[in-house]
Amino acid sequence: PRPLQPQRSGTEVGQLVRAQISERTLRTDRWWLSPLLTVAGLGLISVYAAIRTFMNDYYWVSEYHYLTPMYSPCLSAECVPAASHFGQPLPELPGFLTPPIFIIPFLLGFRITCYYYRKAYYRAAWMSPPACAVAEPHKTYTGETKAPLIAQNLHRYFFYAASLLLLVNIYDAITAFVGEKGFGIGLGNIILLVNVGLLAAYTASCHSCRHIMGGKLKHFSKHPVRYWMWQKISKLNAKHMQLAWASLIFVCLTDLYIALVASGVIGDLRIVN
Ligand code: FES
Repeated sequence: PRPLQPQRSGTEVGQLVRAQISERTLRTDRWWLSPLLTVAGLGLISVYAAIRTFMNDYYWVSEYHYLTPMYSPCLSAECVPAASHFGQPLPELPGFLTPPIFIIPFLLGFRITCYYYRKAYYRAAWMSPPACAVAEPHKTYTGETKAPLIAQNLHRYFFYAASLLLLVNIYDAITAFVGEKGFGIGLGNIILLVNVGLLAAYTASCHSCRHIMGGKLKHFSKHPVRYWMWQKISKLNAKHMQLAWASLIFVCLTDLYIALVASGVIGDLRIVN
């Protein structure tokens, strides 16, 4: 039998062209629900993050030494001195240059270039395509081989930056067990620990992390430690989407809890004073 030949009209990807079907999709299920929920969730979180970024307040609970991950590290001279665990190398800055402005580009870069989030927002925001077997509205497709999407290849470097910030968050979570009155445990400590646990699981499950650990090896048998790590990371990697959402939502919840305690709206639930 003759092999199938690609059609000669339509949107091209290299030398290949897409099947030409007059219907936008033949799917009859609710394929639009997932992109809709994705765009709503990411939109809500973006609005919350923007409000908190420019609020520039309620990020530190001095009594219990809780520091929200959104403001860590707090490096400018306008930070509450005790919240600056790594000093204040930056001078006082204009009002719009709040501490998160220096952190968010790295965290946002890490999430935006993440393989899972790419799938999520390519579908939900760019509709490229919105779902499997649903035609996209765009006429051309250049993939990630040209600007601006070629920048997605920076993911590995954002992974390194996010890993450093994670270490900072872990340090904050551990030091928060010693407040103004000495050692203590409150609900805030548990929340900070769960937060770094989820962030660590999300970061470790990253595709770049998996490749760094087990990629480019010709013989796993000659690298037993890397092989062992690669196996563990591969298991986590299968849950990358769930970890992406859980860690993102929990960072916001952690920040919200600390903001509410710092502003005096609620008190911290103390387990050990
Ligand atoms: Fe998602 Fe690296 S692939 S964080």
